[in-house]
Amino acid sequence: MKIRVDSVSIVGLGYVGMCTAATFASRGIRTIGIDIDEKRVEQIRKGEAPLHEPQLDPMLKKAVKEKLLDATNDISKAADTDTTFLAVGTPSQNDGSIDLSYIENAAKDLGNVLRETRGYHLVVVKSTVVPGTTNGTVKRFLEQSSGKTVGSEIGLCANPEFLKEGTAIHDALHPDKIVIGSDDKKSANQLTRLYRKFYGSKLPPVILASPEAAELVKYASNAFLATKISFINTIANIAQQTPGVDVGTVARAIGLDPRIGELFLKAGPGYGGSCFHKDLQALINYSEKNGYNPVLFRATEETNEKQATRVVDMAEKLLGSLSGKKVAVLGLAFKKDTDDIREAASIRVINELEKKGAQVVAYDPMAIPNTKKQIADLIDYAEDAHSALKGADCAIIMTEWDHLRKLKAKEFRAYMKTPNIVDARRVYDPDTFNDLNYVAIGVGPRRA
Ligand SMILES: NC(=O)c1ccc[n+]([C@@H]2O[C@H](COP(=O)([O-])OP(=O)(O)OC[C@H]3O[C@@H](n4cnc5c(N)ncnc54)[C@H](O)[C@@H]3O)[C@@H](O)[C@H]2O)c1
Repeated sequence: MKIRVDSVSIVGLGYVGMCTAATFASRGIRTIGIDIDEKRVEQIRKGEAPLHEPQLDPMLKKAVKEKLLDATNDISKAADTDTTFLAVGTPSQNDGSIDLSYIENAAKDLGNVLRETRGYHLVVVKSTVVPGTTNGTVKRFLEQSSGKTVGSEIGLCANPEFLKEGTAIHDALHPDKIVIGSDDKKSANQLTRLYRKFYGSKLPPVILASPEAAELVKYASNAFLATKISFINTIANIAQQTPGVDVGTVARAIGLDPRIGELFLKAGPGYGGSCFHKDLQALINYSEKNGYNPVLFRATEETNEKQATRVVDMAEKLLGSLSGKKVAVLGLAFKKDTDDIREAASIRVINELEKKGAQVVAYDPMAIPNTKKQIADLIDYAEDAHSALKGADCAIIMTEWDHLRKLKAKEFRAYMKTPNIVDARRVYDPDTFNDLNYVAIGVGPRRA
């Protein structure tokens, strides 16, 4: 059978599916996006991005206009393409284990479609799944509902995604590697050919592996990055007790050692986002089910959880008591340039502040609608940073938005009742804020 790489379909149009679809189409590959969320599908068909991601909007508009990208809620349209990517969510269950129900449904529905098709079709698992899922659950559901055999009539690969929210389009266009896990050469060849068509001479290194190894690469990657953050936060907490130390200097120095590397050494309020916590929990759970307790990753998670408490402790230390005090939380998104608040440290901090009786007013340029969906009117919201600061007893910087970074000490002084500032993102220069009550994570007290 001839290998064809002219068209792709992508099931699940969230961050990963949407950005993957837009970038495939931008390279001239005919792309069909499939999602069960009708509103999302309608939006995409109009060329409107359903999520905030730099570069996505114009890219999507162009692809829709040029008829290279279409969206539908009808999965049978996958039959018109050569390759189908599964990019549905894989959230956590209550015990932290992975919830595979979306993957199962998508594989079952796709299998039903493939029952009617002639010719070879490649299925690619792009969602993050624990080792054994592609070759186990996905293969089983595909074979049961299609009546066909994986390996001959249907191809199957695990192909984890490493893009980051906020730079998703850039990352999809310039990945540092492509990991392809497959048990048969034909599947791996077809996917490699597709990526060769996509990247041309700029094809990044392709790591060929077993499906299980490819699946574990994704978890190993996120577990390492999360651990690096909890590591530097631990050093920051030690630095903060030590006169004359700023963790930034320590991070810069150790980062010059190539064995350590400079990235992911930014101390802060702890990691957030849709992946680190959920993937670490899934990995811990998977490992324990197989009889090994990964204590390192438990410590990574515990350190992260406690970092929010430390931020609130810093505010309490400045104010004496938080009860009845107005606290302005500047930034809600888990990082700048996104409206995503999934697992954001800001929400953990807000919950702690509420427990201590503070009156919270929050500002974020993008993430207020999503925050309202999650915590509704538990807190007040402000339209801009100045309104949030008005009459506040304390301000906590929770997201490193560029325009928050530009706020001057005199603005805090002018708007706040008392200029107590907790800089959980370390965005200000302590020297220019030294006549305010300013504390930053990882900055030790001045030497007497
Ligand atoms: N968000 C990230 O930064 C990121 C990065 C790398 C990997 N991942 C992984 O990629 C996967 C997708 O993540 P996401 O953040 O894009 O998810 P998401 O929750 O933003 O989107 C998932 C989409 O799938 C749709 N969907 C669910 N079931 C469906 C079905 N049966 N048919 C069609 N559509 C269906 C939903 O309506 C939703 O639009 C996850 O496994 C995640 O861990 C995410």
